[in-house]
Amino acid sequence: MNFILTEEQLAVRDAAREFARHELLPGVIDRDEKQFFPSDLLKKMSGLGFMGMMVDPIYLGSGMDTLSYVIAIEEIARIDASAAVIMSVNNSLVCWPIEKFASAYLKEKYLKPLASGEKFGAFCLSEPEAGSDATNLKVMAVDKGDHYVLNGVKNWITNAGIASYYILIAQSAPEKGYKGINAFMVEKDWPGIRLGPKENKMGIRGSDTYSIMFNEVIIPRENRIGDEGQGFKIAMQILNGGRIGIAAQALGIAAGAFELSLKYAQERISFGTPIFKHQGIQFKLSDMATLIEAARLLTYKAACLKDAGKSFVKESAMAKLYASQTAMDVTTEAVQIHGGYGYVKEYHVERFMRDAKITQIYEGTSEIQRLVIGRELTRGNI
Ligand code: CAA
Repeated sequence: MNFILTEEQLAVRDAAREFARHELLPGVIDRDEKQFFPSDLLKKMSGLGFMGMMVDPIYLGSGMDTLSYVIAIEEIARIDASAAVIMSVNNSLVCWPIEKFASAYLKEKYLKPLASGEKFGAFCLSEPEAGSDATNLKVMAVDKGDHYVLNGVKNWITNAGIASYYILIAQSAPEKGYKGINAFMVEKDWPGIRLGPKENKMGIRGSDTYSIMFNEVIIPRENRIGDEGQGFKIAMQILNGGRIGIAAQALGIAAGAFELSLKYAQERISFGTPIFKHQGIQFKLSDMATLIEAARLLTYKAACLKDAGKSFVKESAMAKLYASQTAMDVTTEAVQIHGGYGYVKEYHVERFMRDAKITQIYEGTSEIQRLVIGRELTRGNI
């Protein structure tokens, strides 16, 4: 196994690191406080090719591997976890399935603007009564021949405020269970679509989250992605890949909090010596660094398996499970190491701690990841 990054991967890391430190860092506290993400920063991220990183250049993507994408997300999340999830949703949950499952017509129409970052996308799966229990969808897309009629409510939709296009998963034939579910490309401006109020969140406050109401929305038949009844399987495959992006985000949150803590521990004097010299603090930092390295290895492995065309269901679930727990553990210790300073906004680590929590919830809770891992184990995928 090769642990050495290629020249291209190192260049991606450097570009993402420079952008994060020079462009994202200056306003990150303000964006968190005011819950916004400015369009000029989105444009810059698009200009760097961060919105369609794995998409073929013929569809205006950057044509990179999943590992490069993971590296970029980690670097962005080390500074701004909100920017990282904006990227992750557009790349993993929107561009990837269009390229993988959609018709040539849909690719031409939607993938090019999404991969170039001219437009943004969101993934609409969760509903008020269907989060973990994702086959239990109540949003209906009724087949009317040349079109479907869509009704219902989706919620917890990341990027809904900036998205022009949605990948939407809806039930069309409840009597068939999950085999009645379809996936569609939906445009935000179609008649009958309305956003609910913006959620006021604990963390990742720079990224927006809304519920979306659909009332008698006409979806042209050609906007269905994949074959009739394939929507649930498509959604699951989307999430398998998406979980690698969230693992990378969690890894970045942990690494960002660690970096600040190491610096602080070397500068802060107590009892006449830098606190790093106190074994109680030094051991915490050693443990934090070890957890982060282990999370990075799991995440890189899942990315490499995906790039190699191998099954990565178990590995992406493990990477997300472990990296999100690492993010919680490391950020909690980061606040502790900073003492009172860790509890105020200027020192960043309280934000990292708030941002970390969502990585254990979205794109499948930690409990769902354990269930996915368990099922893979019983299938003999040990
Ligand atoms: N990969 C591929 N296929 C999968 C799969 C996976 N991870 N999980 C299930 N499937 C397949 C099954 O093999 C089965 O197909 P077959 O009958 O052909 O074998 C089919 O899908 C139905 O699966 P199950 O019978 O296992 O369905 P279930 O209801 O028992 O459980 C579940 C499925 C794993 C719990 C699934 O519902 C799940 O992953 N839930 C979590 C959903 C989730 O992650 N939501 C996050 C919301 S999105 C979000 O957060 C986005 C955001 O904005 C950031």
